[in-house]
Amino acid sequence: MSIAKLQSRADSLEHLDPMDRAKAVAREFHVSSETIETGTGHFVKQLSEGLLADGTTLLQVPSYVTNLPNGTEKGVCLAIDLGGTNLRVCSVELHGDSTHTLTQSKAAVPAALMTAKTYRDLFGFIARHTEAFMEEHMPGTLDSWRRIVKDGQVTDELRRQRLHPLGFTFSFTFDQHAIDKGRLMYWTKAFNIDDAVGRDPCAMLQEALDELHLPLLVTALVNDTVGTLAARAYASPGRSETLLGAIFGTGTNGAYVEKMTNIKKLHSQPGFADPGQAAFMVLNTEWGGFDKELSVLPTTKYDETLDRASVNPRDQHYEKRISGLYLGELLRRVILAEMQSPTPCFSLSAQSHSRLHIPYSIDSSFLSVIIGDQSPTLERAREEISKVLSVRQVSVSDAAALQVIAEAIGRRAARLSAIAIAGVVVQSGRLGSTTLMMGASQRMVLTRPSFLVRLWSDCRMALGAFVSCVHHSFHPERVKSDSVSQEASSDLSYNSDKGKEYVSQEMDIIDIGVDGSLFEFFPGFEGHIRTALREIPAIGPLGEERIQMGTAPDGSGVGAALIAWASRKP
Ligand code: BGC
Repeated sequence: MSIAKLQSRADSLEHLDPMDRAKAVAREFHVSSETIETGTGHFVKQLSEGLLADGTTLLQVPSYVTNLPNGTEKGVCLAIDLGGTNLRVCSVELHGDSTHTLTQSKAAVPAALMTAKTYRDLFGFIARHTEAFMEEHMPGTLDSWRRIVKDGQVTDELRRQRLHPLGFTFSFTFDQHAIDKGRLMYWTKAFNIDDAVGRDPCAMLQEALDELHLPLLVTALVNDTVGTLAARAYASPGRSETLLGAIFGTGTNGAYVEKMTNIKKLHSQPGFADPGQAAFMVLNTEWGGFDKELSVLPTTKYDETLDRASVNPRDQHYEKRISGLYLGELLRRVILAEMQSPTPCFSLSAQSHSRLHIPYSIDSSFLSVIIGDQSPTLERAREEISKVLSVRQVSVSDAAALQVIAEAIGRRAARLSAIAIAGVVVQSGRLGSTTLMMGASQRMVLTRPSFLVRLWSDCRMALGAFVSCVHHSFHPERVKSDSVSQEASSDLSYNSDKGKEYVSQEMDIIDIGVDGSLFEFFPGFEGHIRTALREIPAIGPLGEERIQMGTAPDGSGVGAALIAWASRKP
């Protein structure tokens, strides 16, 4: 924008009353229907690129999970879940009827450990919590193993017999080479520990567990999105097969079911055998990195300063506009900028110890509380503003101005989230033939003839084989199974006269498992996603109705336990 234009914009803002000014700031966070449509096209393009080669913008990391649970899994498994904010140590009892019992201990990860000098500090903390969990819930198992270690009697055979399989949910960006092997590519969210980058998360954890002589063997490395997908498939089988596991929490990401025939970058790997048309693998998209080049994402001056000051500048732009870690930080930056303006949209003045002066000190729950107050006097919102920001005398109009801006930041996050959901749905082909806007002049037509019939029977085949088909190493050929469910086949009717490819009520639904504080608690988050989905021509109101979004109870922990359980060696 030219200096003259900026000047005239500043002049016009000066003459606005405070609420109009707040609305003007809010408009900077507006996302048009056109942006969402173009964004979806760009997302599908980047998803497709990630199927062909490593190192693309959307990483499309193979998870080595080649089947999903069907709800009949039974047994007890342990999981450790390291998220962006909390650590959870869990014991999950799978009842075999889509339900589970969870025993867990949760701790906030201290900020100092997120940027510790060495990975040993962070993983030592995880191991100590795991030890405390075992002392409380499995004291006999722990003691007897420690006696064996003390007597110097550990043998490979005893390790095989005595060590408990453990699923490790690691909610960061890693490349995966087998179900229990990976390599941390880079940290995201508020984490930054140099010597961890390039190392295997399973090995770092195993080293710390062994140091404390805990009878545990890390048998599955799972991104939280993959865990959420597995947990959702376990908890809601039958109605439809789950397509996507998505997280809208401290960070954001999604993992979805992709056909092996499409994952061309795996075809040249040593040991790859043609898995047949039926095979699929769950891919971790790492969609937080979408549009690294910023060709479609809207950018405000607040996004720019946030990015520059972050631990990962010029990266994770999509995540920085969507996820919980950043929404409070964006609002903090808006408030500070307004306070320095000659005509601010509120008359707040912060004390020197106010959190407004501390980066990342405002949680997205602050925005939720302000937006959630629909009373005429905004009592609750004013109290919260006063408490969290340490400001005195918050007027109704101050709170109303903040509400308008917080709402706009949240709505932008939700509308942008729709791009990824729509992109995965389009890529899956479950909606049939679709035309997408790719940019000003390009158009792309995506067609998946007869896809629904194939996908449905493929997945039903694979579901039955979940238990036997997640392995320590990659055995795609094992996915082949003769056990096509007769019951499943009879659910289908195929009307070739009309050229349609299904029809079953169950199949019509596209199921998505979602986890994360924004989706669960941010007022209107799902509603805004749905509005945006309807605006995308490739989805439209009919497609939007077919998309079912639901939480997966205890998603990432239960998912990791399920995958570890299935990866046990016979
Ligand atoms: C990480 C992902 C993770 C997501 C949600 C992102 O910052 O890169 O691996 O799935 O957060 O927790």
